[in-house]
Amino acid sequence: MFEALNTQPPDGLLGLIKAFNSDGRARKIDLGVGVYRDAEGRTPVLKAVKEAERILLETQDSKKYLGPEGDIGFSALLQPIIFGNGERFAGRIAALQTPGGTGALRLGAELVRSANAKAAVRVGAPTWPNHVPIFSAAGLKIEAHRFVVLASQAVDFDGVRQGLAKANPGDVVLLHGCCHNPTGVDFSRDQWREIAGALAARNLTPFVDLAYQGLGDGLDEDAWATRLILETVDEALVAYSCDKNFGLYRDRVGSLFVLARDLDETAKVMSNLAALARVAWSMPPDHGAAVVRIILERPALVAMWREELDSMRERINGNRAALAEADPALAFVRNQRGLFSNLFLSKPQAAALRDRHAIYCTDSGRINVAGMQPADAGAIVAALRAEGCIADKAAA
Ligand code: LMR
Repeated sequence: MFEALNTQPPDGLLGLIKAFNSDGRARKIDLGVGVYRDAEGRTPVLKAVKEAERILLETQDSKKYLGPEGDIGFSALLQPIIFGNGERFAGRIAALQTPGGTGALRLGAELVRSANAKAAVRVGAPTWPNHVPIFSAAGLKIEAHRFVVLASQAVDFDGVRQGLAKANPGDVVLLHGCCHNPTGVDFSRDQWREIAGALAARNLTPFVDLAYQGLGDGLDEDAWATRLILETVDEALVAYSCDKNFGLYRDRVGSLFVLARDLDETAKVMSNLAALARVAWSMPPDHGAAVVRIILERPALVAMWREELDSMRERINGNRAALAEADPALAFVRNQRGLFSNLFLSKPQAAALRDRHAIYCTDSGRINVAGMQPADAGAIVAALRAEGCIADKAAA
Protein backbone atom coordinates (compact mmCIF):
# COMPACT_ATOMS: atom_id res chain seq x y z
CA MET A 1 0.00 0.00 0.00
CA PHE A 2 2.84 2.42 0.63
CA GLU A 3 3.46 2.77 -3.08
CA ALA A 4 0.35 4.94 -3.10
CA LEU A 5 2.02 7.54 -0.89
CA ASN A 6 3.34 10.81 -2.25
CA THR A 7 6.68 11.95 -0.87
CA GLN A 8 6.10 14.93 1.40
CA PRO A 9 8.32 18.02 1.13
CA PRO A 10 10.67 18.25 4.12
CA ASP A 11 9.63 20.78 6.77
CA GLY A 12 11.49 23.99 5.93
CA LEU A 13 12.20 25.00 9.54
CA LEU A 14 13.37 21.61 10.69
CA GLY A 15 15.46 21.27 7.51
CA LEU A 16 17.32 24.44 8.49
CA ILE A 17 18.51 22.83 11.75
CA LYS A 18 20.10 20.02 9.75
CA ALA A 19 21.61 22.32 7.12
CA PHE A 20 23.14 24.60 9.78
CA ASN A 21 24.60 21.69 11.75
CA SER A 22 26.25 20.21 8.68
CA ASP A 23 27.73 23.54 7.54
CA GLY A 24 31.47 23.24 8.16
CA ARG A 25 32.29 26.96 7.94
CA ALA A 26 33.82 28.36 11.12
CA ARG A 27 31.86 31.62 11.10
CA LYS A 28 28.19 30.75 10.70
CA ILE A 29 25.15 32.43 12.21
CA ASP A 30 21.94 30.54 12.98
CA LEU A 31 18.91 32.77 12.66
CA GLY A 32 16.72 29.81 11.69
CA VAL A 33 14.62 27.76 14.07
CA GLY A 34 13.22 29.57 17.14
CA VAL A 35 15.72 28.64 19.81
CA TYR A 36 17.37 31.03 22.28
CA ARG A 37 21.16 31.28 22.37
CA ASP A 38 23.21 32.88 25.14
CA ALA A 39 26.30 35.09 24.84
CA GLU A 40 28.42 31.98 24.18
CA GLY A 41 26.07 30.80 21.44
CA ARG A 42 24.74 27.94 23.58
CA THR A 43 21.17 26.98 24.42
CA PRO A 44 21.78 25.98 28.03
CA VAL A 45 19.48 24.09 30.37
CA LEU A 46 18.22 26.77 32.79
CA LYS A 47 19.68 26.60 36.32
CA ALA A 48 16.15 26.49 37.78
CA VAL A 49 15.39 23.52 35.49
CA LYS A 50 18.60 21.71 36.50
CA GLU A 51 17.73 22.18 40.18
CA ALA A 52 14.15 20.98 39.64
CA GLU A 53 15.46 17.96 37.72
CA ARG A 54 17.73 17.12 40.66
CA ILE A 55 14.75 17.29 43.02
CA LEU A 56 12.65 15.21 40.61
CA LEU A 57 15.33 12.54 40.38
CA GLU A 58 15.65 12.33 44.15
CA THR A 59 11.97 12.34 45.00
CA GLN A 60 10.18 10.59 42.14
CA ASP A 61 9.29 7.12 43.42
CA SER A 62 7.01 5.92 40.63
CA LYS A 63 6.40 6.35 36.96
CA LYS A 64 2.89 4.97 36.96
CA TYR A 65 0.37 6.59 34.62
CA LEU A 66 -1.04 9.99 35.55
CA GLY A 67 -4.03 9.94 33.19
CA PRO A 68 -4.87 11.86 30.02
CA GLU A 69 -4.92 15.24 31.77
CA GLY A 70 -1.24 14.85 32.67
CA ASP A 71 0.22 16.65 35.67
CA ILE A 72 -2.72 18.51 37.21
CA GLY A 73 -0.43 20.54 39.48
CA PHE A 74 1.53 21.76 36.45
CA SER A 75 -1.54 23.11 34.66
CA ALA A 76 -2.99 24.57 37.90
CA LEU A 77 0.22 26.41 38.85
CA LEU A 78 0.57 27.90 35.37
CA GLN A 79 -2.88 29.45 35.53
CA PRO A 80 -2.10 32.45 37.79
CA ILE A 81 0.98 33.18 35.66
CA ILE A 82 -1.10 33.23 32.49
CA PHE A 83 -4.49 34.48 33.67
CA GLY A 84 -3.54 36.60 36.69
CA ASN A 85 -5.57 36.10 39.84
CA GLY A 86 -8.37 35.00 37.50
CA GLU A 87 -11.12 34.79 40.15
CA ARG A 88 -13.56 35.75 37.46
CA PHE A 89 -12.83 32.48 35.67
CA ALA A 90 -13.09 30.32 38.80
CA GLY A 91 -13.99 26.78 37.80
CA ARG A 92 -14.54 27.79 34.17
CA ILE A 93 -11.15 26.81 32.78
CA ALA A 94 -10.56 23.23 31.66
CA ALA A 95 -6.84 22.42 31.49
CA LEU A 96 -4.98 19.51 29.98
CA GLN A 97 -1.23 19.04 29.67
CA THR A 98 -0.08 18.52 26.07
CA PRO A 99 3.09 17.57 24.18
CA GLY A 100 4.27 21.14 23.53
CA GLY A 101 2.27 24.05 22.17
CA THR A 102 1.79 22.09 18.95
CA GLY A 103 -0.05 19.37 20.87
CA ALA A 104 -2.22 22.05 22.50
CA LEU A 105 -3.06 23.58 19.12
CA ARG A 106 -3.95 20.22 17.60
CA LEU A 107 -6.03 19.17 20.60
CA GLY A 108 -7.86 22.51 20.56
CA ALA A 109 -8.48 22.12 16.83
CA GLU A 110 -9.94 18.66 17.44
CA LEU A 111 -12.17 20.06 20.19
CA VAL A 112 -13.47 22.78 17.86
CA ARG A 113 -14.13 20.17 15.17
CA SER A 114 -16.07 18.01 17.65
CA ALA A 115 -18.13 20.99 18.83
CA ASN A 116 -18.76 22.66 15.48
CA ALA A 117 -17.38 20.98 12.37
CA LYS A 118 -18.59 23.93 10.28
CA ALA A 119 -16.48 26.48 12.15
CA ALA A 120 -13.87 28.18 9.98
CA VAL A 121 -10.58 29.21 11.53
CA ARG A 122 -9.67 32.83 10.75
CA VAL A 123 -5.90 33.24 10.50
CA GLY A 124 -3.91 36.44 9.99
CA ALA A 125 -1.15 36.15 7.35
CA PRO A 126 1.69 35.64 7.71
CA THR A 127 1.59 33.18 10.57
CA TRP A 128 3.73 30.32 11.94
CA PRO A 129 4.00 27.87 8.99
CA ASN A 130 2.62 25.00 11.11
CA HIS A 131 -0.63 26.76 12.09
CA VAL A 132 -2.61 26.19 8.90
CA PRO A 133 -1.48 22.53 8.49
CA ILE A 134 -2.47 21.79 12.12
CA PHE A 135 -6.00 23.18 11.73
CA SER A 136 -6.40 21.64 8.26
CA ALA A 137 -5.26 18.24 9.54
CA ALA A 138 -8.07 18.43 12.10
CA GLY A 139 -10.50 18.90 9.21
CA LEU A 140 -11.25 22.59 9.78
CA LYS A 141 -11.66 25.16 7.04
CA ILE A 142 -9.14 28.01 7.05
CA GLU A 143 -9.93 31.61 6.09
CA ALA A 144 -6.95 33.96 5.84
CA HIS A 145 -6.83 37.73 6.21
CA ARG A 146 -3.93 40.15 6.07
CA PHE A 147 -2.21 40.76 9.41
CA VAL A 148 1.08 42.47 8.68
CA VAL A 149 2.37 44.29 5.63
CA LEU A 150 5.98 43.12 5.62
CA ALA A 151 7.17 45.92 3.37
CA SER A 152 6.14 48.46 6.02
CA GLN A 153 6.45 46.14 9.04
CA ALA A 154 3.08 47.46 10.23
CA VAL A 155 -0.15 45.79 11.29
CA ASP A 156 -2.71 45.89 8.48
CA PHE A 157 -5.55 46.62 10.85
CA ASP A 158 -8.02 47.18 8.03
CA GLY A 159 -7.19 43.65 6.88
CA VAL A 160 -7.83 42.34 10.39
CA ARG A 161 -11.12 44.28 10.66
CA GLN A 162 -12.26 42.89 7.31
CA GLY A 163 -11.33 39.36 8.37
CA LEU A 164 -13.36 39.69 11.56
CA ALA A 165 -16.28 41.28 9.69
CA LYS A 166 -16.42 38.34 7.25
CA ALA A 167 -16.40 35.74 10.04
CA ASN A 168 -19.61 33.89 10.78
CA PRO A 169 -20.84 33.50 14.37
CA GLY A 170 -19.19 30.42 15.81
CA ASP A 171 -16.00 30.81 13.76
CA VAL A 172 -12.65 30.62 15.51
CA VAL A 173 -10.08 33.43 15.37
CA LEU A 174 -6.43 32.46 15.85
CA LEU A 175 -4.45 35.12 17.71
CA HIS A 176 -0.80 35.25 18.77
CA GLY A 177 -0.93 36.32 22.44
CA CYS A 178 2.46 38.06 22.26
CA CYS A 179 5.75 37.96 20.32
CA HIS A 180 4.16 37.22 16.95
CA ASN A 181 5.78 34.40 14.99
CA PRO A 182 7.10 35.11 12.31
CA THR A 183 7.02 38.94 12.38
CA GLY A 184 7.59 40.13 15.97
CA VAL A 185 4.77 42.63 15.30
CA ASP A 186 2.11 42.67 18.01
CA PHE A 187 -1.20 44.54 18.13
CA SER A 188 -1.31 47.78 20.14
CA ARG A 189 -3.46 47.73 23.27
CA ASP A 190 -6.14 49.78 21.50
CA GLN A 191 -6.18 47.28 18.66
CA TRP A 192 -6.50 44.41 21.13
CA ARG A 193 -9.46 46.20 22.77
CA GLU A 194 -11.17 46.57 19.41
CA ILE A 195 -10.52 42.90 18.55
CA ALA A 196 -11.86 41.74 21.93
CA GLY A 197 -15.01 43.84 21.43
CA ALA A 198 -15.53 42.48 17.91
CA LEU A 199 -15.11 38.87 19.08
CA ALA A 200 -17.73 39.34 21.79
CA ALA A 201 -20.14 41.30 19.57
CA ARG A 202 -19.95 38.78 16.70
CA ASN A 203 -19.90 35.64 18.84
CA LEU A 204 -16.50 34.51 17.56
CA THR A 205 -14.28 32.17 19.56
CA PRO A 206 -10.67 33.28 20.12
CA PHE A 207 -7.93 30.67 20.01
CA VAL A 208 -4.86 32.31 21.54
CA ASP A 209 -1.45 30.81 20.86
CA LEU A 210 0.79 31.87 23.76
CA ALA A 211 4.22 30.36 23.18
CA TYR A 212 6.62 33.12 24.25
CA GLN A 213 5.29 34.54 27.53
CA GLY A 214 8.06 36.48 29.28
CA LEU A 215 10.26 36.86 26.21
CA GLY A 216 8.66 40.10 24.99
CA ASP A 217 8.16 42.68 27.73
CA GLY A 218 7.65 40.55 30.87
CA LEU A 219 5.39 37.80 32.19
CA ASP A 220 2.43 40.04 33.07
CA GLU A 221 2.90 42.38 30.11
CA ASP A 222 2.98 39.48 27.65
CA ALA A 223 -0.22 38.01 29.12
CA TRP A 224 -2.09 41.33 29.04
CA ALA A 225 -3.86 40.66 25.74
CA THR A 226 -4.80 37.07 26.65
CA ARG A 227 -6.31 38.27 29.94
CA LEU A 228 -8.24 41.05 28.18
CA ILE A 229 -9.64 38.60 25.62
CA LEU A 230 -10.71 36.12 28.31
CA GLU A 231 -12.36 38.85 30.35
CA THR A 232 -14.34 39.99 27.30
CA VAL A 233 -15.67 36.76 25.79
CA ASP A 234 -17.55 33.76 27.22
CA GLU A 235 -15.57 31.01 25.51
CA ALA A 236 -11.92 30.82 24.46
CA LEU A 237 -9.03 28.43 23.89
CA VAL A 238 -5.42 29.11 24.88
CA ALA A 239 -2.55 26.92 23.61
CA TYR A 240 0.39 27.42 25.94
CA SER A 241 4.01 26.39 25.52
CA CYS A 242 6.77 26.19 28.14
CA ASP A 243 9.28 25.12 25.51
CA LYS A 244 10.78 28.59 25.10
CA ASN A 245 10.27 30.38 28.42
CA PHE A 246 11.56 27.38 30.41
CA GLY A 247 14.05 26.35 27.69
CA LEU A 248 12.53 22.85 27.63
CA TYR A 249 12.26 22.58 23.85
CA ARG A 250 12.81 18.88 23.27
CA ASP A 251 10.88 17.85 26.37
CA ARG A 252 7.69 19.14 24.67
CA VAL A 253 5.89 20.93 27.51
CA GLY A 254 2.56 22.58 26.86
CA SER A 255 -1.00 22.87 28.05
CA LEU A 256 -4.38 23.59 26.53
CA PHE A 257 -6.71 25.83 28.53
CA VAL A 258 -10.34 26.16 27.52
CA LEU A 259 -12.63 28.82 29.01
CA ALA A 260 -16.25 27.63 29.05
CA ARG A 261 -19.46 29.41 29.99
CA ASP A 262 -20.19 27.67 33.28
CA LEU A 263 -19.19 24.75 35.48
CA ASP A 264 -21.28 22.19 33.59
CA GLU A 265 -19.81 23.15 30.22
CA THR A 266 -16.31 23.15 31.67
CA ALA A 267 -16.81 19.56 32.85
CA LYS A 268 -18.16 18.62 29.42
CA VAL A 269 -15.17 20.26 27.70
CA MET A 270 -12.78 18.46 30.05
CA SER A 271 -14.32 15.08 29.28
CA ASN A 272 -13.98 15.77 25.55
CA LEU A 273 -10.36 16.89 25.90
CA ALA A 274 -9.54 13.72 27.83
CA ALA A 275 -11.23 11.56 25.18
CA LEU A 276 -9.47 13.36 22.31
CA ALA A 277 -6.09 13.14 24.05
CA ARG A 278 -6.66 9.44 24.73
CA VAL A 279 -6.87 8.64 21.02
CA ALA A 280 -3.99 10.95 20.07
CA TRP A 281 -1.25 10.28 22.63
CA SER A 282 -3.17 8.76 25.53
CA MET A 283 -1.10 10.54 28.18
CA PRO A 284 1.41 13.36 27.73
CA PRO A 285 5.14 12.88 28.46
CA ASP A 286 5.75 13.68 32.13
CA HIS A 287 9.30 14.88 32.66
CA GLY A 288 9.17 18.52 31.50
CA ALA A 289 5.81 19.26 33.08
CA ALA A 290 6.97 17.76 36.39
CA VAL A 291 10.03 20.01 36.22
CA VAL A 292 7.88 23.11 35.65
CA ARG A 293 5.57 22.09 38.51
CA ILE A 294 8.53 21.63 40.88
CA ILE A 295 9.80 25.11 39.96
CA LEU A 296 6.40 26.75 40.39
CA GLU A 297 5.86 25.05 43.78
CA ARG A 298 9.03 26.64 45.24
CA PRO A 299 9.38 30.42 45.59
CA ALA A 300 13.19 30.18 45.48
CA LEU A 301 13.07 28.33 42.16
CA VAL A 302 10.42 30.70 40.81
CA ALA A 303 12.76 33.61 41.61
CA MET A 304 15.66 31.82 39.90
CA TRP A 305 13.56 31.06 36.80
CA ARG A 306 12.24 34.64 36.59
CA GLU A 307 15.76 36.01 36.78
CA GLU A 308 16.90 33.71 33.98
CA LEU A 309 13.85 34.60 31.90
CA ASP A 310 14.54 38.31 32.47
CA SER A 311 18.10 37.91 31.25
CA MET A 312 16.98 35.98 28.14
CA ARG A 313 14.52 38.77 27.35
CA GLU A 314 17.09 41.51 27.94
CA ARG A 315 19.56 39.76 25.66
CA ILE A 316 16.97 39.36 22.90
CA ASN A 317 16.01 43.03 23.15
CA GLY A 318 19.74 43.93 23.21
CA ASN A 319 20.20 42.01 19.96
CA ARG A 320 17.25 43.91 18.52
CA ALA A 321 18.89 47.21 19.47
CA ALA A 322 22.22 46.08 17.96
CA LEU A 323 20.59 45.29 14.60
CA ALA A 324 18.63 48.55 14.61
CA GLU A 325 21.78 50.53 15.39
CA ALA A 326 23.81 48.70 12.74
CA ASP A 327 21.57 49.97 9.95
CA PRO A 328 18.74 52.52 9.91
CA ALA A 329 16.89 50.30 7.44
CA LEU A 330 16.48 47.81 10.29
CA ALA A 331 15.21 50.37 12.81
CA PHE A 332 11.87 48.54 12.98
CA VAL A 333 13.52 45.49 14.55
CA ARG A 334 14.02 47.41 17.82
CA ASN A 335 10.30 47.85 18.44
CA GLN A 336 9.30 44.31 17.62
CA ARG A 337 9.13 41.66 20.32
CA GLY A 338 10.00 38.05 20.93
CA LEU A 339 12.35 35.84 18.98
CA PHE A 340 11.44 36.85 15.45
CA SER A 341 11.47 39.59 12.84
CA ASN A 342 10.63 39.07 9.20
CA LEU A 343 12.88 40.79 6.69
CA PHE A 344 10.72 40.42 3.59
CA LEU A 345 13.34 38.48 1.60
CA SER A 346 12.88 36.50 -1.57
CA LYS A 347 13.73 32.80 -1.55
CA PRO A 348 16.91 33.35 -3.66
CA GLN A 349 18.01 36.09 -1.23
CA ALA A 350 17.57 33.73 1.75
CA ALA A 351 19.52 31.07 -0.18
CA ALA A 352 22.30 33.55 -0.97
CA LEU A 353 22.59 34.51 2.71
CA ARG A 354 23.01 30.82 3.53
CA ASP A 355 25.33 29.87 0.65
CA ARG A 356 27.58 32.94 0.46
CA HIS A 357 27.51 34.26 4.02
CA ALA A 358 26.69 31.24 6.22
CA ILE A 359 23.74 33.17 7.67
CA TYR A 360 20.71 30.92 8.12
CA CYS A 361 17.15 32.26 8.11
CA THR A 362 13.92 30.85 6.73
CA ASP A 363 13.09 31.13 3.04
CA SER A 364 10.41 33.66 3.94
CA GLY A 365 13.04 35.94 5.50
CA ARG A 366 12.21 35.26 9.15
CA ILE A 367 15.19 35.78 11.42
CA ASN A 368 15.48 34.46 14.95
CA VAL A 369 16.94 37.50 16.71
CA ALA A 370 17.74 35.32 19.73
CA GLY A 371 20.16 33.24 17.63
CA MET A 372 22.75 36.01 17.07
CA GLN A 373 25.32 37.88 19.13
CA PRO A 374 25.29 41.72 19.24
CA ALA A 375 28.72 41.53 17.58
CA ASP A 376 27.15 39.67 14.61
CA ALA A 377 25.01 42.71 13.71
CA GLY A 378 27.66 44.20 11.40
CA ALA A 379 28.17 40.95 9.48
CA ILE A 380 24.42 40.42 9.15
CA VAL A 381 23.84 43.93 7.83
CA ALA A 382 26.79 43.66 5.41
CA ALA A 383 25.41 40.38 4.05
CA LEU A 384 21.89 41.81 3.73
CA ARG A 385 23.28 44.76 1.79
CA ALA A 386 25.56 42.59 -0.37
CA GLU A 387 22.53 40.52 -1.42
CA GLY A 388 20.36 43.55 -2.06
CA CYS A 389 17.97 42.68 0.76
CA ILE A 390 17.88 46.20 2.17
CA ALA A 391 19.71 48.16 -0.52
CA ASP A 392 16.59 50.10 -1.54
CA LYS A 393 16.20 51.37 1.99
CA ALA A 394 19.85 52.37 2.42
CA ALA A 395 20.69 55.23 4.69
CA ALA A 396 22.33 58.25 3.10
C1 LMR B 1 9.82 28.03 15.33
O1 LMR B 1 8.89 28.65 14.81
O2 LMR B 1 10.99 28.13 14.93
C2 LMR B 1 9.56 27.14 16.49
O3 LMR B 1 8.25 27.31 16.94
C3 LMR B 1 9.93 25.74 16.25
C4 LMR B 1 8.95 24.98 15.42
O4 LMR B 1 8.45 23.95 15.89
O5 LMR B 1 8.64 25.39 14.29
